[in-house]
This record gives sequence, C-alpha cells and structure tokens, in this order.
Amino acid sequence: MRLDKLLSALGAASRSGCRDLIRSGRVKINGVPAGSGADRVPSGAEVTLDGQALDTRLTRHVMLNKPAGVLTAREDTRQKTVMDLLPPVYASLECMPVGRLDKDTTGLLILTTDGELAHRLISPQRHVDKVYEAKVEGTLTGEDQAAFAAGVVLSDFTAMPAALQIMGPGLARVTVQEGKYHQVKRMFGARGKPVISLRRLSFGPIELDETLLPGQYRELTEEEAAALYAAAGMTHA
Ligand code: URA
Repeated sequence: MRLDKLLSALGAASRSGCRDLIRSGRVKINGVPAGSGADRVPSGAEVTLDGQALDTRLTRHVMLNKPAGVLTAREDTRQKTVMDLLPPVYASLECMPVGRLDKDTTGLLILTTDGELAHRLISPQRHVDKVYEAKVEGTLTGEDQAAFAAGVVLSDFTAMPAALQIMGPGLARVTVQEGKYHQVKRMFGARGKPVISLRRLSFGPIELDETLLPGQYRELTEEEAAALYAAAGMTHA
C-alpha cells in the first residue's frame, strides 16, 4: 500500500498533510526515512512518525461496553455517539457498529472496520443469537416464557421464537435472533411488562467482557475475531 494512503487512513493527517510529514523526514519505513507518499509499505513493515511506531493494522474489531445516553451511530451533529468513546483512529478507519442498541440500552456493542462482516452479522438470514438482560415492570411468568417461545405477536409482525430465562420476578435473560427496531422492548411491552432497563450480554459467540466499565472498550482477541468471522460464515483473514 502507498505510504500516503496508509497514513491518511490511520488519520495521521490529511492526504496533503501526510505528504508534508513525509517530505519533512518525520516518517520512516523500517528505520529509513520515506522519500515520498508514493513509497510502498511492505506488509509487516515498521512505520514510525517522529520515532513512534504506528499501529498500521487497517482491520480492527472492538467490543464496547456501551453506556446509556449514547447513540449507536457513526456520527451525529448534536448527540454523543459510540464513536466518541473510541480513539479517533477508529473513525478514520471507518469502524462501524454492528447493528444498533437504543440510546438507553447498555452493554455489548461490537464495532468493526470490516463492512462485509458487519453486514452479514446483522442479516436476518444469519440468525445470530443476541442475549439481553432485561429488568421489567411486573412479575414474569411461565406464560410469558411460553409466549416468547411461540413468537410474540406484535402489531406489524410476529417475532421469531425467543428463549426467556426468568432470573427474578422482574428480571430475565432473553435470547433473540432478530434485531428489529425496539424488538426486545416491544416483546415485553406486548406482554404488559414494559422494560425498565436493557443490557446486552452477548452477540453470537462474543460475550461482554465484564471487566470493561461502561464506556470502556477493548479490541477483540484473535480467538474472538475468528469466532465472529465463523458466525458470519466467513474465513478469518
Ligand atoms: N431491543 C430493544 O428493544 N432495544 C435494543 O437496544 C436492543 C434490542
């Protein structure tokens, strides 16, 4: 890949700003000052800017413990988005959320630079399990469980069967495969038990790392990334 393209993808500066950095001798490839933006960066090469090694990986996958009050969006003119919780390099690399959580929903959100991966994971055909912890008004019963298992009838569609595990009178774990707008809230709402709070615990093979405080993130491990690609029916590069 061309050096100027790499540097601007990483958000080091604008394309012309990157050329200036290179011209002023601040960028080295394997210890050798780069000559021009057109220099090729061999894969695995060390690229430094002002002596600091750059993380040149263009593909990244992140898990975020989404806090309440933040939009799942790549950008918004007025409100804080999940991208604001990550270092700017992720936005430069066009990292995108895999599906969306409501503004008040917390917990596991995966973000990736791989658009194909994101697209496949949220495809309704893919049936990826999503597990949520829900606190609801009222007392959950075996009838709610049966209704979830049969597929809750909503005004515009019937939800796919979902597993409801009752953890306490108003506390449950629910496993759904769909991801329609306000899906889980609507399913509980249809049972007359409105959701008080919702937290996602897992997405396919990925479980929320409970050591992450709300608002914190980490990159997926190699094993997690491989499992996610497998869940998407793709081979992990
Ligand atoms: N279902 C909802 O209702 N909200 C979410 O944020 C996720 C699933």
